[in-house]
Amino acid sequence: MPPVHEAAAQAQPNIALVKYWGKRDAALNLPAVGSISITLDGLWTRTRVRFDERLPQDRFVLDGRADEREAARVSRCLDLLRERAGVRWRADVVSRNNFPTAAGLASSASGFAALVTAAAAALGLPLSATEKSELARRASGSAARSIFGGYVEWAHGRRADGKDSVAQCLRAAADWPLRVVVAITSRAAKEVGSSEGMRRSAETSPYHAAWIAAQEDDLAVARSAIAARDFQRLAEVAEHSCLKMHALALAARPGLIYWNGTTVEALHRIRALRGSGVPVFFTVDAGPQVKAVCEPQAVETVRAALAATPGVLDVIECGLGAGARLIEADALECAA
Ligand code: PMV
Repeated sequence: MPPVHEAAAQAQPNIALVKYWGKRDAALNLPAVGSISITLDGLWTRTRVRFDERLPQDRFVLDGRADEREAARVSRCLDLLRERAGVRWRADVVSRNNFPTAAGLASSASGFAALVTAAAAALGLPLSATEKSELARRASGSAARSIFGGYVEWAHGRRADGKDSVAQCLRAAADWPLRVVVAITSRAAKEVGSSEGMRRSAETSPYHAAWIAAQEDDLAVARSAIAARDFQRLAEVAEHSCLKMHALALAARPGLIYWNGTTVEALHRIRALRGSGVPVFFTVDAGPQVKAVCEPQAVETVRAALAATPGVLDVIECGLGAGARLIEADALECAA
């Protein structure tokens, strides 16, 4: 057997329409609530994993630079795959994002979905998408969803070992090809990461119990809106879930304010557009960027409105896309 075992994969970020916020088990990354997302197209992480029996330790290069901080997380994720394969080989991991990292665009979701997919193939592990979803979840909760394309639900699950807290595809992207316009309102890395934000919200926000109690209803509405391609219903439940998640975080101690002034202005513009009949709604994750989801015919109007919002630095337009998949290693076009 040769000493080198290599594969590459691509995965895309996803955006939750019914949000995940809170963990029922922090070590296993088990969510306190189920969630529903859309997987994007056009934005991607491409990752090549090369296990080499001669390497003394794992190496992780992101966008051409050795990333010491993320390396430990990458190693822990690879450990899960090494354990399954019964090997101790270290790996050289080279990864590239075609969008800004750590700016609220779910780079960890696409990153760990691509890592698990590439590493499993490099080790010759015949894992199902469900098994990959479970492994990706252990590294970053929302990564469980990026294993799948289109409309995706990640289950809360009942089991203590988390085997049933995995994602599945609800509907293919091509069935209902909505568009997403991302308004970049800041390029700074966020101050409080999602794990710390979730812990603080659960421990100190007076709205935590109310958040958990209503999630099943929100999920049921979103599921049926997606099945019926009912844009208005999806718009209402998605904005409600987003605002509720932020209300919960705002009421934590100390309060978590993920928005800046431009974020709020963009939300008003999107609301005004929908009020005037444009099929668009917003969602915001644990950061200041605003994601506007719209029907395809509205995309130019939405893009123009967000680009004209004072303080918006850039707009990125994308569609809905596929789940994580293997690619040729030379598609990375970056040096090891
Ligand atoms: O996967 P994490 O730990 O980065 O958490 C993601 C949390 C939100 O993006 C705010 C919501 C979600 O469901 O993606």
